[in-house]
Amino acid sequence: MTSTRTQRFGAIALAAAAALAFTPAQAGEVEVLHWWTSGGEAKAAAALKITLQKGGHRWKDFAVAGGGGDSAMTVLKSRVVSGNAPSAAQIKGPSIQEWAQEGVLANIDDVAKAEKWDELLPKVVSDIMKYKGSYVAAPVNVHRVNWLWANPEAFKKAGAKLPTSWDEFFVAAEALKKAGIVPIAHGGQNWQDFTTFESVALGVGGAEFYKKALVQLDGATITGPTMTKVLETFKKVKGYTDKNAPGRDWNLATAMVIKGEAGMQLMGDWAKGEFVAAGKTPGTDFVCVAAPGTAKAFTFNVDSFAMFKLKDAANIAAQKDLAKEIMAPAFQELFNLYKGSIPVRLNMKMDKFDDCAKASAKDFVDTAKAGTLVPSIAHGMAVPSAVEGAIKDTVSQFWNDDKMSVADAQGKLAAAARTK
Ligand code: BGC
Repeated sequence: MTSTRTQRFGAIALAAAAALAFTPAQAGEVEVLHWWTSGGEAKAAAALKITLQKGGHRWKDFAVAGGGGDSAMTVLKSRVVSGNAPSAAQIKGPSIQEWAQEGVLANIDDVAKAEKWDELLPKVVSDIMKYKGSYVAAPVNVHRVNWLWANPEAFKKAGAKLPTSWDEFFVAAEALKKAGIVPIAHGGQNWQDFTTFESVALGVGGAEFYKKALVQLDGATITGPTMTKVLETFKKVKGYTDKNAPGRDWNLATAMVIKGEAGMQLMGDWAKGEFVAAGKTPGTDFVCVAAPGTAKAFTFNVDSFAMFKLKDAANIAAQKDLAKEIMAPAFQELFNLYKGSIPVRLNMKMDKFDDCAKASAKDFVDTAKAGTLVPSIAHGMAVPSAVEGAIKDTVSQFWNDDKMSVADAQGKLAAAARTK
């Protein structure tokens, strides 16, 4: 990070801390489960910690490394089963309902009512935070998943043009390859495979197809001709990844683009958090464009903290303060500047944000109106966790097994979609 930017963020952090300082009736401890361990993510997590501590409470970090959060969710299950749930856990989408059905989540309606969350949140978000009409989780941001990140130097070297369609993508990929640059930085983990897959599905098939096939899980659409094209395109992308992709963490893939070893990465805007943490400037050192063919659509991924039922009165008070503060404007700004995402709270000033975030904020509103705002499957926003796991595994099997035919993959996907 450049020193000016460090100073700027430092100043923002201090201003936010001052604005947030308050004296709680009772100081308590909040144990927070998250998986924000990469460079940009850690800075965002620190903003959350500072916010809580300024309120006089104690932060107990429960970080479980692993992009996409699969490992964190496994650890969470064993902690809850053994009767030792954390105060707050990064849980998203329909999983919030699944946890609430287990009877382990706390009702935070008192905070939500006092802070007017119903008025401050887009309905698509507040619906996800509620179980049977009551808030059980607090949202922190909106990530856009359908981004393509590119290194302009690498593109210049290759004489390539930023792609807006999948045809153009493969032309650019060929040119990068010829210039000795890895065309697409990828990490072969099933959530990353699916992050790529859902952008291909949206770009090739459009928002209606995406919703029908991957949200409503319509069998005929999954086995139909558009999905054939999607899977063919997806497999073609693999041909432009490098041999070390299997198992690579997403932030190491981003580092390849930062260094110019790779030309592009298909990833949500937490990748921007990495570029920024590395001192890179959007628009100059790196660029963001919508994933090919998806400029008029938006795959959303909302990070949120579900609150678990607690017994200790001071810890309950601290938990409620956390819920309150993460929706406050100061936190929404500070956190999202580091995280790469945009504030989830409506009508926030965006003047401190870069052009990628400003585009994201505008597109979030525009696509909601146009009906092309779609939930991310890869990031747990769309379907029950069992279905999500099954379709992710199928897509990764297809990605990894060069002998699996497209027709075979379609049949397996349709079966995975029927998972109960
Ligand atoms: C989360 C992001 C996180 C990313 C990589 C996503 O599922 O929503 O907050 O940065 O995974 O770990």
